[in-house]
Amino acid sequence: MNAPPHDADKNPNVNTQLDSAWSTPCDVVFQHRVWWSNHVLAPGNAAFEAALAQVHGHCVAFIDSGVAQSWPELAPQLMGAFAALHPSHEETTSHEQHRTASATSPSLAHVEIIPGGETCKEGLKYTERVAKICFDHGVSRHGAVIAIGGGAVLDAVGFGAAIAHRGVRMIRIPTTTLAQDDSAMGVKCGVNMFEQKNALGCFAAPWAVLCDEHFLSTLPIEHWLGGFSEVVKIALLKDPHLFEQLESHAMGITSRDLKIASPILRRSAWLHREHILRGGDPFEVGSARPLDHGHWSAHRLEALSHFAVPHGQAVSIGIALDAFLAVEMRLLDASVATRIIQLLRSLQLPIWHPLLEAGEELFAGLEQFRRHLGGNFAIPLLTSIGASREVTRIKAEDFRKAVTTLRTLAS
Ligand SMILES: NC(=O)c1ccc[n+]([C@@H]2O[C@H](COP(=O)([O-])OP(=O)(O)OC[C@H]3O[C@@H](n4cnc5c(N)ncnc54)[C@H](O)[C@@H]3O)[C@@H](O)[C@H]2O)c1
Ligand SMILES: [Zn+2]
Repeated sequence: MNAPPHDADKNPNVNTQLDSAWSTPCDVVFQHRVWWSNHVLAPGNAAFEAALAQVHGHCVAFIDSGVAQSWPELAPQLMGAFAALHPSHEETTSHEQHRTASATSPSLAHVEIIPGGETCKEGLKYTERVAKICFDHGVSRHGAVIAIGGGAVLDAVGFGAAIAHRGVRMIRIPTTTLAQDDSAMGVKCGVNMFEQKNALGCFAAPWAVLCDEHFLSTLPIEHWLGGFSEVVKIALLKDPHLFEQLESHAMGITSRDLKIASPILRRSAWLHREHILRGGDPFEVGSARPLDHGHWSAHRLEALSHFAVPHGQAVSIGIALDAFLAVEMRLLDASVATRIIQLLRSLQLPIWHPLLEAGEELFAGLEQFRRHLGGNFAIPLLTSIGASREVTRIKAEDFRKAVTTLRTLAS
Protein backbone atom coordinates (compact mmCIF):
# COMPACT_ATOMS: atom_id res chain seq x y z
CA MET A 1 0.00 0.00 0.00
CA ASN A 2 1.30 3.47 -0.91
CA ALA A 3 2.10 5.88 1.90
CA PRO A 4 -0.33 8.83 2.04
CA PRO A 5 1.34 11.89 0.50
CA HIS A 6 1.12 13.89 3.76
CA ASP A 7 2.88 11.20 5.77
CA ALA A 8 6.13 13.08 6.31
CA ASP A 9 7.96 10.17 7.95
CA LYS A 10 7.60 8.01 4.89
CA ASN A 11 7.73 10.61 2.15
CA PRO A 12 11.29 11.80 1.48
CA ASN A 13 9.96 14.83 -0.45
CA VAL A 14 8.46 16.37 2.69
CA ASN A 15 10.86 18.46 4.74
CA THR A 16 10.01 18.09 8.42
CA GLN A 17 12.56 20.74 9.43
CA LEU A 18 11.44 24.35 9.49
CA ASP A 19 13.41 26.27 6.87
CA SER A 20 13.69 29.14 9.28
CA ALA A 21 11.89 30.45 12.34
CA TRP A 22 11.83 34.16 13.01
CA SER A 23 10.75 35.11 16.49
CA THR A 24 11.50 38.60 17.75
CA PRO A 25 9.91 40.46 20.62
CA CYS A 26 8.58 43.86 19.64
CA ASP A 27 7.62 46.37 22.31
CA VAL A 28 4.70 48.58 21.44
CA VAL A 29 4.47 51.52 23.78
CA PHE A 30 1.33 53.57 24.05
CA GLN A 31 0.66 56.55 26.26
CA HIS A 32 -2.50 56.23 28.31
CA ARG A 33 -3.74 59.77 29.03
CA VAL A 34 -6.61 60.58 31.35
CA TRP A 35 -7.67 64.01 32.53
CA TRP A 36 -10.32 64.81 35.12
CA SER A 37 -11.71 68.26 34.55
CA ASN A 38 -15.01 70.05 34.95
CA HIS A 39 -16.60 71.79 31.96
CA VAL A 40 -14.21 70.09 29.64
CA LEU A 41 -15.79 71.72 26.58
CA ALA A 42 -15.56 75.28 27.89
CA PRO A 43 -13.36 77.36 25.55
CA GLY A 44 -9.75 77.21 26.70
CA ASN A 45 -10.18 74.14 28.94
CA ALA A 46 -6.62 72.96 29.57
CA ALA A 47 -7.47 69.25 29.49
CA PHE A 48 -9.25 69.57 26.14
CA GLU A 49 -6.32 71.51 24.74
CA ALA A 50 -3.84 68.94 25.99
CA ALA A 51 -5.86 66.05 24.54
CA LEU A 52 -5.97 67.75 21.13
CA ALA A 53 -2.38 69.00 21.22
CA GLN A 54 -1.03 66.37 18.85
CA VAL A 55 -4.16 65.90 16.77
CA HIS A 56 -4.10 67.29 13.26
CA GLY A 57 -6.65 67.93 10.53
CA HIS A 58 -10.27 66.92 10.50
CA CYS A 59 -12.03 65.45 13.52
CA VAL A 60 -15.55 64.13 13.92
CA ALA A 61 -17.66 63.71 17.05
CA PHE A 62 -20.46 61.37 18.10
CA ILE A 63 -22.78 62.23 20.97
CA ASP A 64 -24.88 59.72 22.92
CA SER A 65 -28.58 60.55 22.35
CA GLY A 66 -29.29 60.48 26.11
CA VAL A 67 -26.52 63.01 26.68
CA ALA A 68 -27.62 65.17 23.74
CA GLN A 69 -31.16 65.26 25.13
CA SER A 70 -29.94 66.42 28.54
CA TRP A 71 -27.29 68.77 27.15
CA PRO A 72 -28.80 70.32 23.99
CA GLU A 73 -26.03 72.90 23.73
CA LEU A 74 -23.31 70.27 23.50
CA ALA A 75 -22.73 70.35 19.73
CA PRO A 76 -22.27 74.16 19.61
CA GLN A 77 -20.11 73.93 22.75
CA LEU A 78 -17.90 71.38 21.06
CA MET A 79 -17.57 73.65 18.01
CA GLY A 80 -16.68 76.51 20.36
CA ALA A 81 -14.05 74.37 22.07
CA PHE A 82 -12.47 73.61 18.70
CA ALA A 83 -12.66 77.24 17.59
CA ALA A 84 -10.80 78.24 20.77
CA LEU A 85 -7.93 75.94 19.81
CA HIS A 86 -7.07 78.05 16.74
CA PRO A 87 -4.83 81.04 17.16
CA SER A 88 -6.49 84.25 15.92
CA HIS A 89 -4.87 86.45 13.25
CA GLU A 90 -3.81 88.99 15.88
CA GLU A 91 -2.03 86.39 17.99
CA THR A 92 0.11 85.04 15.16
CA THR A 93 3.26 86.91 14.36
CA SER A 94 3.18 86.36 10.63
CA HIS A 95 0.78 85.32 7.91
CA GLU A 96 2.95 82.29 7.13
CA GLN A 97 2.85 81.10 10.74
CA HIS A 98 -0.92 81.37 10.74
CA ARG A 99 -1.23 79.46 7.47
CA THR A 100 0.92 76.59 8.79
CA ALA A 101 -0.95 76.46 12.08
CA SER A 102 -4.39 76.28 10.49
CA ALA A 103 -3.27 73.68 7.96
CA THR A 104 -2.39 71.24 10.73
CA SER A 105 -4.45 72.30 13.73
CA PRO A 106 -7.52 70.17 14.48
CA SER A 107 -10.90 71.20 13.16
CA LEU A 108 -14.32 69.76 13.78
CA ALA A 109 -15.77 68.56 10.48
CA HIS A 110 -18.91 66.80 11.69
CA VAL A 111 -21.01 66.17 14.80
CA GLU A 112 -23.62 63.44 14.96
CA ILE A 113 -25.98 62.07 17.59
CA ILE A 114 -26.24 58.29 17.88
CA PRO A 115 -28.58 56.21 20.06
CA GLY A 116 -27.31 55.73 23.58
CA GLY A 117 -27.28 52.45 25.49
CA GLU A 118 -27.08 48.98 23.96
CA THR A 119 -29.00 50.12 20.84
CA CYS A 120 -25.79 51.52 19.39
CA LYS A 121 -24.06 48.18 20.05
CA GLU A 122 -26.66 46.15 18.12
CA GLY A 123 -24.50 44.71 15.36
CA LEU A 124 -22.20 46.79 13.22
CA LYS A 125 -24.57 49.52 12.04
CA TYR A 126 -23.17 52.39 14.10
CA THR A 127 -19.61 51.13 14.00
CA GLU A 128 -19.75 51.16 10.22
CA ARG A 129 -21.38 54.56 10.31
CA VAL A 130 -18.45 55.94 12.33
CA ALA A 131 -15.95 54.51 9.85
CA LYS A 132 -17.90 55.94 6.91
CA ILE A 133 -18.15 59.38 8.50
CA CYS A 134 -14.37 59.33 8.94
CA PHE A 135 -13.98 58.79 5.19
CA ASP A 136 -16.72 61.22 4.20
CA HIS A 137 -15.13 63.98 6.26
CA GLY A 138 -11.48 63.32 5.54
CA VAL A 139 -10.42 62.20 9.00
CA SER A 140 -6.88 60.85 8.72
CA ARG A 141 -4.88 58.75 11.17
CA HIS A 142 -3.69 62.06 12.61
CA GLY A 143 -7.22 63.34 13.12
CA ALA A 144 -9.52 62.13 15.87
CA VAL A 145 -12.90 60.65 16.57
CA ILE A 146 -14.50 62.04 19.70
CA ALA A 147 -17.17 60.03 21.52
CA ILE A 148 -19.25 61.67 24.24
CA GLY A 149 -21.45 59.24 26.10
CA GLY A 150 -21.90 56.13 28.18
CA GLY A 151 -19.90 52.94 27.93
CA ALA A 152 -22.04 51.62 25.08
CA VAL A 153 -21.40 54.62 22.84
CA LEU A 154 -17.69 54.56 23.70
CA ASP A 155 -17.62 50.87 22.71
CA ALA A 156 -19.44 51.21 19.38
CA VAL A 157 -17.77 54.46 18.30
CA GLY A 158 -14.39 53.22 19.52
CA PHE A 159 -14.71 50.14 17.34
CA GLY A 160 -15.50 52.32 14.30
CA ALA A 161 -12.51 54.57 15.02
CA ALA A 162 -10.27 51.52 15.48
CA ILE A 163 -11.07 50.09 12.05
CA ALA A 164 -11.21 53.30 9.99
CA HIS A 165 -7.79 53.58 8.31
CA ARG A 166 -6.81 50.74 10.70
CA GLY A 167 -7.04 53.09 13.62
CA VAL A 168 -7.92 56.73 14.00
CA ARG A 169 -7.14 58.49 17.28
CA MET A 170 -10.00 58.15 19.70
CA ILE A 171 -10.88 60.70 22.36
CA ARG A 172 -13.34 59.41 24.93
CA ILE A 173 -15.52 61.73 26.99
CA PRO A 174 -17.37 59.33 29.33
CA THR A 175 -20.63 60.62 30.77
CA THR A 176 -21.80 57.83 33.10
CA THR A 177 -20.50 56.64 36.45
CA LEU A 178 -19.68 53.27 34.90
CA ALA A 179 -17.86 54.75 31.93
CA GLN A 180 -15.83 57.06 34.18
CA ASP A 181 -15.02 54.51 36.89
CA ASP A 182 -14.32 51.59 34.54
CA SER A 183 -14.98 51.33 30.82
CA ALA A 184 -13.32 54.52 29.55
CA MET A 185 -10.08 53.49 31.28
CA GLY A 186 -9.92 50.26 29.33
CA VAL A 187 -8.36 49.39 26.00
CA LYS A 188 -11.27 47.44 24.55
CA CYS A 189 -14.25 48.20 22.40
CA GLY A 190 -16.93 46.04 20.90
CA VAL A 191 -20.50 45.43 19.81
CA ASN A 192 -23.06 42.71 20.39
CA MET A 193 -23.60 40.14 17.66
CA PHE A 194 -24.76 36.55 17.22
CA GLU A 195 -26.91 37.07 20.36
CA GLN A 196 -23.72 37.47 22.34
CA LYS A 197 -22.42 40.40 24.29
CA ASN A 198 -19.29 42.04 22.82
CA ALA A 199 -18.98 39.24 20.25
CA LEU A 200 -17.13 41.54 17.85
CA GLY A 201 -14.59 44.12 18.84
CA CYS A 202 -10.95 44.85 19.24
CA PHE A 203 -8.28 46.14 21.55
CA ALA A 204 -7.54 49.77 20.90
CA ALA A 205 -6.04 52.13 23.46
CA PRO A 206 -7.70 55.54 23.55
CA TRP A 207 -5.69 58.55 22.47
CA ALA A 208 -7.10 60.49 25.43
CA VAL A 209 -9.83 60.21 28.04
CA LEU A 210 -11.50 63.35 29.37
CA CYS A 211 -13.62 62.73 32.46
CA ASP A 212 -16.05 65.50 33.34
CA GLU A 213 -18.14 64.68 36.40
CA HIS A 214 -20.39 67.59 35.56
CA PHE A 215 -22.15 65.29 33.04
CA LEU A 216 -23.16 62.88 35.80
CA SER A 217 -25.79 65.31 37.11
CA THR A 218 -28.27 64.34 34.37
CA LEU A 219 -27.69 60.60 34.47
CA PRO A 220 -30.89 58.63 35.22
CA ILE A 221 -30.71 57.22 38.76
CA GLU A 222 -30.62 53.61 37.57
CA HIS A 223 -27.44 54.30 35.60
CA TRP A 224 -25.92 56.46 38.32
CA LEU A 225 -26.27 53.53 40.74
CA GLY A 226 -25.34 50.88 38.17
CA GLY A 227 -21.84 52.29 37.80
CA PHE A 228 -21.08 51.55 41.44
CA SER A 229 -21.31 47.81 40.84
CA GLU A 230 -17.95 48.07 39.04
CA VAL A 231 -16.57 49.94 42.06
CA VAL A 232 -17.76 47.12 44.33
CA LYS A 233 -16.13 44.63 41.94
CA ILE A 234 -12.72 46.32 41.89
CA ALA A 235 -12.84 46.92 45.66
CA LEU A 236 -13.58 43.23 46.22
CA LEU A 237 -10.67 42.24 44.01
CA LYS A 238 -8.07 44.76 45.04
CA ASP A 239 -8.90 47.26 47.75
CA PRO A 240 -10.53 46.37 51.10
CA HIS A 241 -10.28 50.04 52.15
CA LEU A 242 -12.37 51.08 49.14
CA PHE A 243 -14.90 48.42 50.11
CA GLU A 244 -15.15 49.95 53.60
CA GLN A 245 -15.48 53.41 52.07
CA LEU A 246 -18.41 52.17 50.01
CA GLU A 247 -19.99 50.70 53.13
CA SER A 248 -19.67 53.90 55.12
CA HIS A 249 -20.69 56.23 52.26
CA ALA A 250 -23.53 54.24 50.71
CA MET A 251 -26.09 56.83 51.69
CA GLY A 252 -24.09 59.69 50.20
CA ILE A 253 -23.73 57.68 47.00
CA THR A 254 -27.41 56.81 46.67
CA SER A 255 -28.33 60.44 47.31
CA ARG A 256 -25.91 61.42 44.51
CA ASP A 257 -23.61 63.50 46.64
CA LEU A 258 -20.79 64.13 44.17
CA LYS A 259 -18.36 65.28 46.87
CA ILE A 260 -18.62 61.81 48.39
CA ALA A 261 -18.92 59.90 45.12
CA SER A 262 -16.12 61.62 43.20
CA PRO A 263 -13.09 60.24 45.10
CA ILE A 264 -14.69 56.79 45.07
CA LEU A 265 -15.27 56.88 41.30
CA ARG A 266 -11.74 58.12 40.71
CA ARG A 267 -10.21 55.46 42.93
CA SER A 268 -12.10 52.81 40.96
CA ALA A 269 -10.93 54.31 37.66
CA TRP A 270 -7.35 54.35 38.95
CA LEU A 271 -7.49 50.71 40.05
CA HIS A 272 -8.99 49.55 36.74
CA ARG A 273 -6.38 51.54 34.86
CA GLU A 274 -3.52 50.27 37.02
CA HIS A 275 -4.57 46.70 36.44
CA ILE A 276 -4.71 47.18 32.68
CA LEU A 277 -1.47 49.13 32.39
CA ARG A 278 0.62 47.34 34.99
CA GLY A 279 -1.04 43.94 35.28
CA GLY A 280 1.19 42.53 32.55
CA ASP A 281 -1.52 41.59 30.07
CA PRO A 282 -3.30 44.70 28.73
CA PHE A 283 -4.49 42.91 25.59
CA GLU A 284 -5.67 39.81 27.44
CA VAL A 285 -3.46 37.27 25.76
CA GLY A 286 -3.57 34.93 28.75
CA SER A 287 -6.63 33.35 30.32
CA ALA A 288 -6.66 35.23 33.63
CA ARG A 289 -9.30 37.94 33.61
CA PRO A 290 -9.65 39.34 37.13
CA LEU A 291 -11.62 42.41 36.02
CA ASP A 292 -14.30 40.04 34.74
CA HIS A 293 -15.27 39.02 38.26
CA GLY A 294 -19.08 38.70 38.29
CA HIS A 295 -19.17 39.13 34.52
CA TRP A 296 -19.60 35.64 33.09
CA SER A 297 -23.21 35.51 34.31
CA ALA A 298 -23.75 39.27 33.92
CA HIS A 299 -23.08 39.21 30.19
CA ARG A 300 -25.33 36.20 29.79
CA LEU A 301 -28.08 37.82 31.84
CA GLU A 302 -27.90 40.96 29.73
CA ALA A 303 -28.22 38.94 26.52
CA LEU A 304 -31.00 36.69 27.89
CA SER A 305 -32.98 39.76 28.96
CA HIS A 306 -32.47 41.28 25.48
CA PHE A 307 -30.49 43.99 27.25
CA ALA A 308 -33.40 45.06 29.44
CA VAL A 309 -31.05 44.51 32.40
CA PRO A 310 -28.38 47.24 32.19
CA HIS A 311 -24.74 46.21 32.47
CA GLY A 312 -24.22 47.74 35.92
CA GLN A 313 -27.23 45.97 37.44
CA ALA A 314 -26.29 42.69 35.73
CA VAL A 315 -22.78 42.95 37.21
CA SER A 316 -24.28 43.49 40.67
CA ILE A 317 -26.26 40.26 40.32
CA GLY A 318 -23.16 38.54 38.92
CA ILE A 319 -21.11 39.66 41.94
CA ALA A 320 -23.79 38.33 44.31
CA LEU A 321 -23.87 35.02 42.44
CA ASP A 322 -20.09 34.67 42.36
CA ALA A 323 -19.93 35.42 46.10
CA PHE A 324 -22.20 32.48 46.92
CA LEU A 325 -20.50 30.29 44.33
CA ALA A 326 -17.28 30.97 46.24
CA VAL A 327 -19.07 29.99 49.46
CA GLU A 328 -20.30 26.73 47.89
CA MET A 329 -16.78 26.00 46.69
CA ARG A 330 -15.45 26.63 50.21
CA LEU A 331 -13.31 29.52 49.07
CA LEU A 332 -15.17 32.25 50.93
CA ASP A 333 -16.73 32.51 54.34
CA ALA A 334 -20.54 32.88 54.21
CA SER A 335 -20.36 35.92 56.51
CA VAL A 336 -18.25 37.75 53.89
CA ALA A 337 -20.75 36.90 51.15
CA THR A 338 -23.53 38.27 53.37
CA ARG A 339 -21.55 41.47 53.90
CA ILE A 340 -21.21 41.85 50.11
CA ILE A 341 -24.98 41.41 49.68
CA GLN A 342 -25.58 44.03 52.36
CA LEU A 343 -23.36 46.51 50.55
CA LEU A 344 -25.03 45.89 47.18
CA ARG A 345 -28.41 46.41 48.82
CA SER A 346 -27.38 49.59 50.57
CA LEU A 347 -26.23 50.89 47.17
CA GLN A 348 -29.72 49.99 45.85
CA LEU A 349 -28.22 47.47 43.47
CA PRO A 350 -30.04 44.21 42.64
CA ILE A 351 -28.94 40.75 43.74
CA TRP A 352 -31.60 38.81 41.92
CA HIS A 353 -33.41 38.59 38.59
CA PRO A 354 -36.09 36.03 37.63
CA LEU A 355 -33.90 34.97 34.71
CA LEU A 356 -31.59 33.33 37.23
CA GLU A 357 -34.29 30.67 37.32
CA ALA A 358 -33.39 29.88 33.71
CA GLY A 359 -30.51 28.00 35.30
CA GLU A 360 -29.26 25.97 32.37
CA GLU A 361 -29.42 28.88 29.95
CA LEU A 362 -27.54 31.08 32.35
CA PHE A 363 -25.02 28.39 33.12
CA ALA A 364 -24.37 28.21 29.38
CA GLY A 365 -22.79 31.63 29.85
CA LEU A 366 -19.83 29.81 31.36
CA GLU A 367 -19.31 27.86 28.16
CA GLN A 368 -19.55 31.08 26.13
CA PHE A 369 -17.01 32.67 28.43
CA ARG A 370 -14.69 29.70 27.99
CA ARG A 371 -14.94 29.87 24.22
CA HIS A 372 -14.41 33.63 24.38
CA LEU A 373 -11.16 32.99 26.24
CA GLY A 374 -10.18 30.38 23.70
CA GLY A 375 -10.42 27.00 25.32
CA ASN A 376 -9.63 27.41 28.99
CA PHE A 377 -11.38 29.56 31.42
CA ALA A 378 -10.26 31.10 34.64
CA ILE A 379 -13.06 32.66 36.67
CA PRO A 380 -11.87 34.92 39.47
CA LEU A 381 -13.70 34.00 42.69
CA LEU A 382 -13.16 35.70 46.03
CA THR A 383 -11.30 34.20 48.93
CA SER A 384 -11.75 37.32 51.08
CA ILE A 385 -12.40 41.01 50.54
CA GLY A 386 -9.44 42.17 48.49
CA ALA A 387 -8.26 38.71 47.40
CA SER A 388 -9.37 36.25 44.76
CA ARG A 389 -8.38 33.00 43.14
CA GLU A 390 -8.80 31.79 39.56
CA VAL A 391 -10.98 28.71 39.32
CA THR A 392 -11.04 26.60 36.21
CA ARG A 393 -14.11 24.54 36.91
CA ILE A 394 -17.55 25.33 38.28
CA LYS A 395 -19.95 22.52 39.05
CA ALA A 396 -23.58 22.93 37.99
CA GLU A 397 -24.60 21.77 41.45
CA ASP A 398 -22.68 24.61 43.16
CA PHE A 399 -24.21 27.04 40.71
CA ARG A 400 -27.74 25.79 41.53
CA LYS A 401 -27.11 26.04 45.26
CA ALA A 402 -25.80 29.61 44.90
CA VAL A 403 -28.90 30.56 42.90
CA THR A 404 -31.14 29.01 45.58
CA THR A 405 -29.39 31.02 48.30
CA LEU A 406 -29.81 34.23 46.33
CA ARG A 407 -33.50 33.49 45.71
CA THR A 408 -34.03 33.03 49.44
CA LEU A 409 -32.14 36.21 50.29
CA ALA A 410 -34.06 38.20 47.70
CA SER A 411 -37.53 37.07 48.76
N1 LIG B 1 -14.95 48.37 26.80
C1 LIG B 1 -14.89 48.06 28.08
O1 LIG B 1 -13.81 47.79 28.61
C2 LIG B 1 -16.14 48.07 28.90
C3 LIG B 1 -16.07 47.92 30.30
C4 LIG B 1 -17.25 47.98 31.03
C5 LIG B 1 -18.47 48.15 30.39
N2 LIG B 1 -18.50 48.26 29.04
C6 LIG B 1 -19.78 48.44 28.34
O2 LIG B 1 -20.39 49.66 28.73
C7 LIG B 1 -21.80 49.55 28.53
C8 LIG B 1 -22.54 50.11 29.73
O3 LIG B 1 -22.21 51.47 29.82
P1 LIG B 1 -22.92 52.49 30.83
O4 LIG B 1 -23.21 51.84 32.10
O5 LIG B 1 -22.08 53.69 30.76
O6 LIG B 1 -24.34 52.73 30.20
P2 LIG B 1 -24.85 53.06 28.73
O7 LIG B 1 -23.78 53.49 27.83
O8 LIG B 1 -25.69 51.91 28.33
O9 LIG B 1 -25.77 54.34 29.01
C9 LIG B 1 -26.92 54.22 29.82
C10 LIG B 1 -27.98 55.25 29.45
O10 LIG B 1 -27.62 56.53 29.96
C11 LIG B 1 -27.72 57.52 28.92
N3 LIG B 1 -26.73 58.53 29.30
C12 LIG B 1 -25.38 58.42 29.27
N4 LIG B 1 -24.82 59.50 29.85
C13 LIG B 1 -25.83 60.32 30.22
C14 LIG B 1 -25.88 61.58 30.89
N5 LIG B 1 -24.77 62.18 31.33
N6 LIG B 1 -27.07 62.14 31.10
C15 LIG B 1 -28.22 61.52 30.70
N7 LIG B 1 -28.24 60.30 30.10
C16 LIG B 1 -27.06 59.72 29.88
C17 LIG B 1 -27.49 56.76 27.64
O11 LIG B 1 -28.10 57.41 26.56
C18 LIG B 1 -28.18 55.43 27.96
O12 LIG B 1 -29.55 55.53 27.70
C19 LIG B 1 -22.09 48.08 28.29
O13 LIG B 1 -22.34 47.87 26.93
C20 LIG B 1 -20.81 47.40 28.71
O14 LIG B 1 -20.61 46.18 28.04
C21 LIG B 1 -17.37 48.24 28.28
ZN1 LIG C 1 -18.34 45.50 33.39
